[in-house]
Amino acid sequence: MLVLGIETSCDETSAALVDDAGGALRVRAQRIGSQIEAHRPYGGVVPELATRQHLARLDPMVGALLEEAGTGLEAVEGIAVTRGPGLASSLLIGLGYAKGLALALGRPWIGVNHLQGHLISPFLAAGEAPVFPHLALIVSGGHTLLLRADGLDEVEVLGTTRDDAAGEAFDKVAKLLGLDYPGGPEIEKRARGGNPAAVDFPRSMMDSGGLDFSFSGLKTAVRVFREKHPAFPVEDVCASFQQAVVDVLAAKARRAVREAGVRTLALSGGVACNGALRAALETAAGKEGWRFLCADRVLSTDNAAMIAAAGLLRLRAGRRSAWDEDVAPNFREF
Ligand code: KG4
Ligand code: ZN
Repeated sequence: MLVLGIETSCDETSAALVDDAGGALRVRAQRIGSQIEAHRPYGGVVPELATRQHLARLDPMVGALLEEAGTGLEAVEGIAVTRGPGLASSLLIGLGYAKGLALALGRPWIGVNHLQGHLISPFLAAGEAPVFPHLALIVSGGHTLLLRADGLDEVEVLGTTRDDAAGEAFDKVAKLLGLDYPGGPEIEKRARGGNPAAVDFPRSMMDSGGLDFSFSGLKTAVRVFREKHPAFPVEDVCASFQQAVVDVLAAKARRAVREAGVRTLALSGGVACNGALRAALETAAGKEGWRFLCADRVLSTDNAAMIAAAGLLRLRAGRRSAWDEDVAPNFREF
């Protein structure tokens, strides 16, 4: 089955073709149009700007995608599109486009939970079918989630953030340090030249709150430290901040694996690009005898291939979305 995936939940416009011709899921082609340059002057995503960019870019992108894959629209057997969570106005562009195309082609379409896409991306990258049960750590600009997946649609939230998402913490700390947006890669770059033990920043809720997280206290601690020590090397502040985030994420993920008794942890979301986080989880997996899976940068950050893959598995099982289905900006169900 060949499925076209569309992702417009936030500030990346993406389209991808995924098939299961050889048995395993395979990305035939993918396009991702980053809007970072458009939003950079504002230090964050401006919804109206994102909507307009999606509208202008999506259709030419699908044309280029089909050309790259050497196929025509008639070969597309189903269309998968992100329904939520995300920015309503951005989601509407993708959903309207997908429905229109499905109607014109006479093909089924399916609305996909964006987080279902992240759940599948480490397995898609490994060319494997998802293993159940497994635990997933999804860390992005909008989410910090520890999930237990017992099946495609049997997903339980074990832990989430009580305030800022992990990526949001990176972005806000970068902003207060005068670094560029998005902050995660900027902080990681500087942290490489710094001492992670230079400042003992708080590890909030390390031993409390079950598997929940909190990052706003850490952000405030960095701000207060910076005000008191303006000449302190920014590399050391970045390395110490990053270490505090990694310590908490890794500690809770390890505890979740132990308590759930599962053997696989899959990491996804923009913060999954962070080398220190990957290394911490890889080391823990090696020591504790469970498997750690993580996609590459392209499949970890927002992309349409993971939406196409999540949609393909559901379409293949006979699932369809109705023509009156709406976007779901606060989509909580799995
Ligand atoms: O998944 P994503 O592309 O978009 C959503 O938020 O859904 O994630 C973007 C987030 C941003 O907050 C960005 O700062 C963070 O991921 N990020 C990183 C790194 N690369 C991206 N955070 C830490 N280290 C990185 N290398
Ligand atoms: Zn995402």
